[in-house]
This record gives sequence, structure tokens and C-alpha cells, in this order.
Amino acid sequence: MRPYLIPAPRELEYTGGKTLLRDDCPVTVTDAPALPGEAYTLKIERGSVCITASSEPGRFYAKKTLEQIKTTCQGVCDDLVIRDAPVMSHRGFLIDCCRHFYGVEELKRLIDAAASFKLNRFHWHLTDDQGWRIEIKQYPLLTEVGSFRNNSRFGGVNEGKPHDGFFTQEQIREIVDYCAERQIEVIPEIEMPGHFTAAIASYPFLGCTGERMEPEQKEGIFPNVLCVGNEKAVAFVKDVLDEVCGLFPGRFVHIGGDEAPRIRWQCCEKCAAKMRELALDDYDALQGSFIKEIASYLRKMGKTAITWNESLKGDRLYPEDVIVQRWMDRKGLCRGFAEKGGKVIESDFYHYYFDYPYGMTPLKKAFAYDPFAGCGAGAVMGVECCLWTEFVRSFDDLCEKLFPRLLATAERGWSGYPTGRYVDFKTASAGMLPLIGEYGIEPLPPDRWDPALPARAKEVVVFFKGSLDPGLIRQAFNSRK
Ligand code: ACM
Ligand code: ZN
Repeated sequence: MRPYLIPAPRELEYTGGKTLLRDDCPVTVTDAPALPGEAYTLKIERGSVCITASSEPGRFYAKKTLEQIKTTCQGVCDDLVIRDAPVMSHRGFLIDCCRHFYGVEELKRLIDAAASFKLNRFHWHLTDDQGWRIEIKQYPLLTEVGSFRNNSRFGGVNEGKPHDGFFTQEQIREIVDYCAERQIEVIPEIEMPGHFTAAIASYPFLGCTGERMEPEQKEGIFPNVLCVGNEKAVAFVKDVLDEVCGLFPGRFVHIGGDEAPRIRWQCCEKCAAKMRELALDDYDALQGSFIKEIASYLRKMGKTAITWNESLKGDRLYPEDVIVQRWMDRKGLCRGFAEKGGKVIESDFYHYYFDYPYGMTPLKKAFAYDPFAGCGAGAVMGVECCLWTEFVRSFDDLCEKLFPRLLATAERGWSGYPTGRYVDFKTASAGMLPLIGEYGIEPLPPDRWDPALPARAKEVVVFFKGSLDPGLIRQAFNSRK
């Protein structure tokens, strides 16, 4: 049998014979110092399996490939030689644990499944308007108050019950270690200056008005942002980041930067004074200069900041300041940033936002995405799929939304340009179902991966019914295939 492999390896050659692959089949592992870190070769010939790699990631990926071969060949494998290495250094998946909370055991299953497809970055969305989910020892109210909301009313659905949950620092370390054993670096996201309601609910001095409030219960973009003109509020952010840097050994910290309304800043004396002090003309520049200050603070701690593309609006950020994650950038600011030498992570809303229905983003559309079309191959550090959870109310639903579409992101991150036939990828994806199932994850059944047009329209309309945005629906259909 010939195996199915996702992502497809860079080179695969069949060499003639056949090998019986038992579970206890001996595997020889040899050092090959000349190979890059994530590269490996795997030979299956005349009953033996040989792996060569220069370091742990390469050995790990060879074993993951072998696992797929064993799963999809069912015993006998055509002899082969694989020489493999990824195109992109960042192959990520984002899980939003704020809108609906998913805990340690659920995350571990997702991490295991993602590692099977050689994803190497877990972007952990830990703070938002609807919940603060990471314990910060200096500010206990963040989790005592900010992790709890009385009800959830996303998309007009009244869940009618309280929702809470957060990760202790011990649990954070447990997930970081679990990921490290699977060659995955964790990127925590601490949102600022927007998506900050749960933090302000915990400590009202963080907002421009000092008003008391509760974490939000619905989806949306909310006005209560961090008061960037208040030195104490900025010091709070730095204190939080000190603890975050101590917990996450990776190179990157995501600091949000998306969807921050200006209305509170417009009425705030402190923010006005800050703008005068820095001679800033507008609020985009105020956000840009704040993000720059925080990025530089992180750099002193040896970390690189990542920010969503909106932070580029103020024209204050340079390639040496931040990495930019592009999700929706109608003005093409990411391209300008890339032309100056900036690095970009591609998470295109229309292709890689897997919280939306398959009717909007079928597997085929996710597979066909060209990550280099926007900013050029030289600038794209990687790809990342996003699973936001406003409308994801159960782990089973989360699994169906993410799988198998996550495999399309894994394929692109490893192989780069979209090459290869979709029909082969789809067959291979179906072949991976037992492997994914081993982690207690049930993907969407194959007959629903690419719904026909009438079914697509129905799925999209049903999905958006509670938070109807006709513009968004129109765009979903008009966007490139
Ligand atoms: C985002 O979806 N607001 C990054
Ligand atoms: Zn303010």
C-alpha cells in the first residue's frame, strides 16, 4: 500500500519492494548534522525503518510521518524514501479560550492532533471582553472577577447560565510542557488596548472613565479599552507581561491590537495629555505608539511582539518592532509593512477563520488559499488558522469546526504554494480520521466538508441569523475561492 500523508512531504520516492510494518518494527535513528532543524529523512526498505535528522524536531516529524504511514497502510507499505522539510517556520493554530472556556484536557487533545500534522505554534487567546483566563499573581481580581460572567448571549442565543473558567499558573506550565514535548511553541495572547472589558471589570482604573462594569456576554467590538494615557494602567500591562514572560519560555508574545474603538480616548483627559506629550495627530498614532512601547518593553525581556494588522494604521510600527498577523486588511497595510522588510503571519479571515461554517469556508477553499498572494513569499513567516469561540458552545462543535480544516493550514504551512490536487488532499484527509479519532476528536463527516451552493447559502444564513450582518454574508460569497 502507498500511504496518505498530510502535509505532503517535499520528496517521496518509491523504491520497489514492500515492508511489513508491525507496531514493534525496529526503527534506527541516525544523526545527520547537515540537515536543518526540522528536516528529516525516512527510509522504509526491506523490513527496516531508518530515520535521519539533526535534532529533536526533525526526529519528531519523522516519527509523525511514520505514524501516518502505519495508520494509512494497514500493515504493508511500499518501500519508500522521504526527504522532507517545511517551507514555513510558523505553522500555527489559535484557540480562543475566552468566549467559551475550554480546559486543560480538551486543549491537550487538540494539541496532540495538531502535532500529528506538524503544526508548531499554539496561539493561546487568553484575555478578551468576555473573560480573563490566565492567573496573574499580582492582580488576583483578574481571575476572581474577570473570569466570570452571569450569562452568555452570543448570536442572540440566551444560554441562561453563568460561564467561567481560568488557567492557574501551574496549568499554564503543564500546557507549555505538553506542547514542548510535541515541538510546539506556545504564543500567549494578552489583548490590548481593545477587547479589555474583563480586565476593566476587575480593575476599573484601567479604563478611561473609572466606571464599574461586568465582562461582556455577547459577541462584538466594545468601547471600554485600556486608558493608554494613564501611567498606572500602562504599568499594569507591563506587570502582567512580566508574569506572562516568566510562564512562557517561547520567543513570542501576542499583544492583540485589533478592534479598539476610539470613543473613550476621545473623551479622556489623560489620553489627550498623552497625545499632546507625544505630539500625536490622531488615535491611530496613539495606538501605534502604545503598541510600540509595549513591543519595546517585551524586546528588553528577549521577546518579540506579535500584533494584529490594525496596529499598522498609525504608521508608527517598523519591521524591527513587531511581527504582524494579518486577518483582514482592506487597505493593504501589511503589504507596505512587508515591502519595508516586515514579517507577516497569514490568517486570512475568508480562508482560515474556522469558527465560521463550512458553507462559508469549505475545506476546498481553505486548501486552495495562497498564503503568498498578499505579502509575497519573502515576508510570510507562516500561516495560522483561528478558532474563535463566540458561537462554539461545545467541544464537539469545536472539533467539527477545526477538523479537518486545520489539515489544510498544516498542508500550506509545510508545503508553501498551493500545489497538488484537492481531490488527493481530500482522500488523504479522510484517511486521517482514525488518527484524529485516537485523541477523542470527531471531525465533521466527509459529506459535509464541501457543501453544494444551496446548502452553503443555508448554512451561512442560519449561522448569521442571530447577529445578522448582510455585508459580511455578501463578502463571504464574493471573496476569492
Ligand atoms: C480578529 O479577528 N479580530 C483578530
Ligand atoms: Zn484614557
